[in-house]
Amino acid sequence: MEQTLVFIKPDGVERGWVGEVIRRFENKGLKLIKLQMLTMSGDLADKHYAEHVERPFYPGLKAFVTGGPIVAMVIEGERAVSIVRKMVGVTDSAEAEAGTIRGDLSTSKGENIIHASDSVESAQREIANFSL
Ligand code: RTP
Ligand code: MG
Repeated sequence: MEQTLVFIKPDGVERGWVGEVIRRFENKGLKLIKLQMLTMSGDLADKHYAEHVERPFYPGLKAFVTGGPIVAMVIEGERAVSIVRKMVGVTDSAEAEAGTIRGDLSTSKGENIIHASDSVESAQREIANFSL
């Protein structure tokens, strides 16, 4: 059994996609085991995106993810990390396949609806950062 950290980014919450996103994971047969609405602090954003803090896009990303409420969750299931990443689609929503969350619900590279952990190790670190 794997656990993965997902959060619906401020654009997804603002546009009303919380139910749709959770529905997709439940339909797939994955289990929602933790759920919390919160607004990310700057410190939490820096910790969560530690690998990106030096990148040129980071100031914009930080302002975006801390700019409104998010809905964070832990999803559990066999091979949950890779299944969820596949369901999310590639980073740039314009390139994401139809049928994926980003491909169906967004056109943006930066404001792309959802975050999902990219490995079991990242998931463990991210779940701890969020205190979930
Ligand atoms: P995430 O971590 O949010 O699940 O997304 P990801 O793995 O698909 O993409 P990653 O490379 O980890 O980038 C994290 C988030 O930063 C924003 N981003 N903007 N403007 C840009 O060039 C750019 N590149 C990345 C996106 O919100 C991306 O999801
Ligand atoms: Mg990532």
